[in-house]
Amino acid sequence: MKVTKAVIPAAGFGTRFLPATKSVPKEMLPIVDKPTIQYIVEEAASAGIKDLLIITSRGKDAIVNHFDKAYELEAVLERDGKDEMLRAVREVSDKTNIHFTRQREQKGLGHAVLCAKSFVGNEPFAVMLGDDVVVSEKPCIGQLTEQYERYGATVLGVQRVGMEHVSKYGIVDCENVEGRMYALKGMVEKPKKEDAPSDIAVLGRYVITPAIFDCLERTPKGAGGEIQLTDALVMLSEYEKIYAYDFVGKRYDIGSKQGFLRATVDFALAREDLKDEFSEYLREIVKTM
Ligand code: UTP
Repeated sequence: MKVTKAVIPAAGFGTRFLPATKSVPKEMLPIVDKPTIQYIVEEAASAGIKDLLIITSRGKDAIVNHFDKAYELEAVLERDGKDEMLRAVREVSDKTNIHFTRQREQKGLGHAVLCAKSFVGNEPFAVMLGDDVVVSEKPCIGQLTEQYERYGATVLGVQRVGMEHVSKYGIVDCENVEGRMYALKGMVEKPKKEDAPSDIAVLGRYVITPAIFDCLERTPKGAGGEIQLTDALVMLSEYEKIYAYDFVGKRYDIGSKQGFLRATVDFALAREDLKDEFSEYLREIVKTM
């Protein structure tokens, strides 16, 4: 079965970016000139995903506005012949059908995904976290949907993060099946270094079977008093096989300040219109350090 739907949970408080996130959703912070959530939507579109559900919360209307039509702005850009800008504004929402729902209380990522139950219905679906932006030749979520189509089972996007970073992630215990594919044996959320089964972390991309909703409904509060998607996936693994796929691509942890800064520099250096002047500036800074 083809995966045609994706859920983007974007209802979290984004406390690591306060005070900016007091009134601006974390997902709207730009990397160069594009809000981070738009990179995620573009990744989904280029993987052939037709319908997207963005889970928002109070104070996040800027996300809804960003994907809406901007008649007045478009009219002015058209009148002034600013074709390139007009194209940039229009293409935001042209590529997929984008739907929205609100998570009324921030009870955790698992609870946010549960808010997508009626949108998803009885189909496999992708989950893409706005905290992780992945640069790759083949879209990261497309690599996972391809594996879903081969194996017909839930696939988690993973990469090695180094033992010193395991306490920030869901960490998997798994064994290699073939190439980049692993069979899941267990999973723990944010373990201490000494308790971690490996340094292989789940990094914000999943393709999940609809049986997860039944598990989420039965998942009690876990780490941080929140309903954790990791706990529901562990429950799901008792009934269905789950795989982990070591996806190809460079991933940025946009939810952290370091990751956000790195992405900003790398994305700017990858832009033809910015790289010469900006790299010259960086060279000057390095000289004075
Ligand atoms: P994070 O743990 O990064 O939380 O959530 P956060 O609130 O966004 O950021 P910090 O840690 O306070 O800085 C991981 C993902 O789950 C979503 C977030 O929007 C993010 O994409 N999430 C989390 C929800 O949608 N709802 C929740 O209740 C919690």
